[in-house]
Amino acid sequence: MVQLTLPKNSTLTKGKRWAAPEGSDPSRLKVFRVYRYDPENGANPRWDEYEVDTSKFGPMVLDALIYIKNTVDPTLTFRRSCREGICGSCAMNIGGRNTLACTHGWAEFGGTGKALAISPLPHMPVVKDLVPDLSLFYAQYDSIEPWLKTNTPEPDKEWLQSPVQREKLDGLYECILCACCSTSCPSYWWNQEKYLGPAALLQSYRWLADSRDEATGERLDAVEDPFKLYRCHTIMNCAQVCPKGLNPAKAIAETKKMLAARAG
Ligand code: SF4
Ligand code: F3S
Ligand code: FES
Repeated sequence: MVQLTLPKNSTLTKGKRWAAPEGSDPSRLKVFRVYRYDPENGANPRWDEYEVDTSKFGPMVLDALIYIKNTVDPTLTFRRSCREGICGSCAMNIGGRNTLACTHGWAEFGGTGKALAISPLPHMPVVKDLVPDLSLFYAQYDSIEPWLKTNTPEPDKEWLQSPVQREKLDGLYECILCACCSTSCPSYWWNQEKYLGPAALLQSYRWLADSRDEATGERLDAVEDPFKLYRCHTIMNCAQVCPKGLNPAKAIAETKKMLAARAG
């Protein structure tokens, strides 16, 4: 039976409010409401509120988080690396939407005076604060064997592709494995252990669509499963949230078409 209430130790509690220093210009203040959880202290997760002067940091949500960590509360924990939408590590839920903190401005979610809620990617175990445990997500990526597989002897130089063949990888190779799509997919929420999710399936199709790869049959066998692939019910959240503008739902539909064509 579906459990509609959270277990006691998961219920969110009211946390600490960090007020801006006295004398701050009220027109520049913004409250960042941030999910906090520390597995080491045994306490329930909580919402902390940081009231900060937006003139002190850059325009992106990540700028605000770095400012808070550096000047207000060094215990705040989050992942980030490239700061330009390439590494995927700053993916989180911002204002109710999974996206990257480094490519979205805090003003997009209401300017000063409006509070902005930030929490980890949903339906994943939390390591600490805004850091989700992506072990299963990466294991699923690993399971699709994301590398070129060939049987024919290696060419002297590179494996060649025509421009048309190469174009088939557009919309696929750009995936940065941020997990925004999989963690926005209700089918993935409910069947995470068995359903591969949109990110791993887009990556699987990236190799199915590659003219150089010679393991198409084997790759199709690996996903032809009522849960691994067919738990996608075309809900489309994945395509709506992808911060790189990709469409995992389309990749999944193409994979299903390949299986249907193979079945004759
Ligand atoms: Fe992230 Fe988009 Fe790749 Fe999904 S498809 S992991 S949302 S980049
Ligand atoms: Fe989920 Fe996207 Fe399919 S949201 S159900 S993977 S279309
Ligand atoms: Fe790399 Fe945001 S820090 S994608």
